[in-house]
Amino acid sequence: MNERVTRQCLGEPTEPTNIVIFGAGGDLTKRKLIPALVEMLHCGLLHPTSYIIGVLKGRTYNEWLDSLYRGIHKYAPEIDMEDQEWQDFIAMFKMVPGDLQDDTTYAELADALETINGHSNALFYCAVPPEWYTTIATGLHKAGLADEDAGYRRIVIEKPFGMDLDSARKLNGELQRVLDESQIYRIDHYLGKESVQNLLIYRFANSILEPLWNRNYIDHIQISAAESIGIEYRANYYEKSGALRDMMQSHLMQVMTLVAMEPPVEFTADAVRDEKIKVLRAVRSFAPENIKKQTVAAQYSAGTIDNNSVNSYVAEDGVSADSATETFAAAKFYIDNWRWQGVPFVLWTGKRLPRRVSEIVIRFRTPPFNMFDPEGKPPLANALVFRVHPDEGIALRMNAKVPGLTTEMRRSVMRAPYAEEWGDVSDAYEVLLHDVLIGDATLFSRADEVEESWSILEPILEAWKDRIAINRYHAGTWDIEGMDELFADCVLGWHKPMY
Ligand code: BG6
Repeated sequence: MNERVTRQCLGEPTEPTNIVIFGAGGDLTKRKLIPALVEMLHCGLLHPTSYIIGVLKGRTYNEWLDSLYRGIHKYAPEIDMEDQEWQDFIAMFKMVPGDLQDDTTYAELADALETINGHSNALFYCAVPPEWYTTIATGLHKAGLADEDAGYRRIVIEKPFGMDLDSARKLNGELQRVLDESQIYRIDHYLGKESVQNLLIYRFANSILEPLWNRNYIDHIQISAAESIGIEYRANYYEKSGALRDMMQSHLMQVMTLVAMEPPVEFTADAVRDEKIKVLRAVRSFAPENIKKQTVAAQYSAGTIDNNSVNSYVAEDGVSADSATETFAAAKFYIDNWRWQGVPFVLWTGKRLPRRVSEIVIRFRTPPFNMFDPEGKPPLANALVFRVHPDEGIALRMNAKVPGLTTEMRRSVMRAPYAEEWGDVSDAYEVLLHDVLIGDATLFSRADEVEESWSILEPILEAWKDRIAINRYHAGTWDIEGMDELFADCVLGWHKPMY
């Protein structure tokens, strides 16, 4: 291993596998999958006799490799790869040109897998738009590539997994007709983030949190993903999706299940997922008459971020001038069970906000009495903040004494950034690809979870579907109408990420 890796290269060794990427010429492949595979090889987490087989069309082999090389430099500049390393890496590559709807593509893929080596393990990664998932699964099935006679066959499905409950059910049905549920890995990259996984360690490997982790001590919980980027080149998808589908149904609700679930009996995929689904089943249905009170939707107008002027959403390429798609969404959930009765979980996300920050904020109840203040003004409530990114780590917001001859108190934040203790953390795609290779589905969503989360959001989708107008916020600001009201009954209100 050369000097460039500073972080820990831990993880179970993987078996030789043929990694087949559908959509190998696309953006996800070059931004995320290839950098993750480079790092995994470097760390010894990708078996060196594995193959990476790209299925794509419209490019020569060399053009494809060239675009991957440029992709690493652009999207993962921290990977300062030496020439030899790149050569070793691309020695693992093969390409199968072809159309996804064409049966011969799968037959050629089967031939390629047969001839390149003796491994039978295969991981099929669908880095393609969702309308192709069923076609790919069916093509693999017809070509006999889904049979697990000689080795494992696993398929990775990217989000969005459906656009609502009906489409998610349909997709589950179509996939399960040709594959066993155990072969399907529905990826949610938030679950691969170090800090999200660490939440489980903090919760279930420490004894100080559990006694406080309930309605008796916690006032409310905020789970957020603020982004400063806009929709980039994805108008086509985003116009149909909006922030609720794009970020809340998948990432934020998944995180909510980990925050709220009971301790599983063991750390196995089904034990964890059984607890997560119980949380989703306990989420109170959104009554149509409460949706206005419990949700916020807004869209960015032009503004300034990091001193750069940015366009309004409706001026983005491919967005219709009268679009009412939300680029900001917030919803207040209640989990009707013994632990969480009455505690609001407010999930919010938006694009073109002042900065990119994702956090889980646990706000405790206000101390009952203040003997330090002659007027008895209560001290500020404590908060435990899990920073998902950037600067992964944990922070505890406490009141502390101002130095000197006074009992005046001020907010003091104890921060424990991971980087200080552990160095850089792995990218979520490395973690998740590694888990697929070792067959650990703990961090992947099961069919029932996906359907349950869509079913929770159905009333909101229904209420929002015919919207013709939407509130605007200036890009680069936190001025979102309705957010203060949404937090009116939450101690200290909306926590806007400050650093
Ligand atoms: C994706 C969404 O799933 O997550 C994007 O489709 C969003 O719209 C991205 O930008 C955010 O991921 P991260 O890891 O940067 O928070």
